[in-house]
Amino acid sequence: MAKNSNQLHEAVEALDPETIDRHRAIVSLVEEFDAIDWYQQRIDATDDEELAAILAHNRDEEREHAAMTLEWLRRRDPGLDKVLRTYLFTEGSIVDLEEEEEEGGSSGHARPRSGGDGSLGIGSLRQERS
Ligand SMILES: [Fe+2]
Repeated sequence: MAKNSNQLHEAVEALDPETIDRHRAIVSLVEEFDAIDWYQQRIDATDDEELAAILAHNRDEEREHAAMTLEWLRRRDPGLDKVLRTYLFTEGSIVDLEEEEEEGGSSGHARPRSGGDGSLGIGSLRQERS
């Protein structure tokens, strides 16, 4: 594998190829979230509206990259799939969801709690500074 994956914590020979590809995706996911954070801070800091608009556009692209990479990981990690199904697109207390999940035990996945309009509440996220 390429030398630049210096974030492996075990000898590459000891790792499954699938683990190495998931590692690549996880590192990429972290990079995407870092980029979102960096762009947002620069948006906050600049007084130039046009620069802020460009940075916001770039930030939104990083969000898309992060979501695509997360979905790739979810499809290959059943444990991650399970917890994402429990916690994502829900409402109310996130901590309570854990308690409900533990009480429910083996009853399977929690129901996604989307808005009644089926929008998953995404519209409200779009109203951030852009
Ligand atoms: Fe990106």
